[in-house]
Amino acid sequence: MSATPFLPVTGAGARVPLVSGGEVAYANLDYAASAPALVAVRQHVDEVLPYYASVHRGAGYLSQVSTSLYESARNIVRRHLGARDDDLVIFTRNSTDALNLLAKAVPGPVLVLDIEHHANLLPWQSGEHRVLLASSSLAATVASIANALEEQSFALLAVTGASNVTGELLPLAELAAIAHRNGARLAVDAAQLVPHRRVDIAATGIDYLAFSGHKVYAPFGSGVLVGPRDWLDAAAPYLLGGGAVRNVTVQHAEFTDGEARHEAGSPNVIGAAAIARALEVLGAVDETAWLDHERHLVKRLRSGLDGLPEVRTLRIWPDSGETVGVVSFTVAGHDSGLVAAYLSAEHGIGVRDGRFCAHPLLASLDLPAGALRASIGVGSSQDDVDRLIAGLHALLEGGPRWGYEVEEGRWVPRDDPRAFPAWAPKLPGTAGAAPCAIPAHN
Ligand code: ALA
Repeated sequence: MSATPFLPVTGAGARVPLVSGGEVAYANLDYAASAPALVAVRQHVDEVLPYYASVHRGAGYLSQVSTSLYESARNIVRRHLGARDDDLVIFTRNSTDALNLLAKAVPGPVLVLDIEHHANLLPWQSGEHRVLLASSSLAATVASIANALEEQSFALLAVTGASNVTGELLPLAELAAIAHRNGARLAVDAAQLVPHRRVDIAATGIDYLAFSGHKVYAPFGSGVLVGPRDWLDAAAPYLLGGGAVRNVTVQHAEFTDGEARHEAGSPNVIGAAAIARALEVLGAVDETAWLDHERHLVKRLRSGLDGLPEVRTLRIWPDSGETVGVVSFTVAGHDSGLVAAYLSAEHGIGVRDGRFCAHPLLASLDLPAGALRASIGVGSSQDDVDRLIAGLHALLEGGPRWGYEVEEGRWVPRDDPRAFPAWAPKLPGTAGAAPCAIPAHN
């Protein structure tokens, strides 16, 4: 059932060079960082590009078509995420941008957990906030959130929908009920949730939801913030410039409200259209078949990793139940950066290593030197998973066959012979600049 991808994605069958010579099909196990575009999304982008013109700014036919495409994308996002009719659907650059926007609008203190991706931690650090340490079980963590909300008045509880490190899901409906009972709203960083699960904002009780196009098979530079308009209309515009204003004099600007208030500058109509099409495609598939595909691959991945005694998979809580297709692990005796470089160079497998932009979580898991992460999605197949397990097995049996060294803080194959395509010339020091990784020599 999962021997083949669930949906066609761009880049499927891409062949990549190995350090030892020759090529193999790329095994993309890094969907959690950036997922490939759905073929249907690329086809839609091809379809609309000839009509691309200025949005909200032109009387020309193409401008009107582009404006309609952009505003329709909002409606499609609203419908597919079960947002309330009067929620704003603001197009941003990505989840980080969406949560930064919300942080500028929140009118009181924010409660957040220490397990979060930096996107859902750093924006709150510049305002009044409290970081609650995760307890030893999910049930105890939920109880501790409830206690914190009872003890102190918070405007917002901000949590991830699914951890970008462990794939564990948070009980969003329960957290929404707890937050609302205590006069707070719930914001969800859904960057790792929307690519794996159908989300119904209103039915779950979520107030604000942020996610990124590039993780939901629409990597064209847009993200989304959905939520009630009152805080957003009362906040200062996120960007100052054209499109966000009603009237401007040389000394003064009168700003508009609604989505436009926070979308100054020419909007990314292609990015918005791509997200809308991706949600339409994910909304049209048989949900059970989609989940079965992912569950089968996650099970196979976890049991393959569990079969290697040197491998430890990461979990925050023992009672969190099933995860989405994101699995992090360490390999005893092997630096994660070296293992990632080896998997790429000798097996054509792409995983992520480092601290996954979740430094406090990695510290609390006692992994200051980072870990490896394998993540899957609708374009993944059983072969991708099996190749990872076989590659790790070969490493543990015989070690790497090539030499590796640390260059600018990253493990790289020594004298790497692999060429890049001519349109992406290999620059010195670009072997994998990893802003959230750690130097391999630490
Ligand atoms: N936020 C992305 C990740 O977790 C980049 O890898």
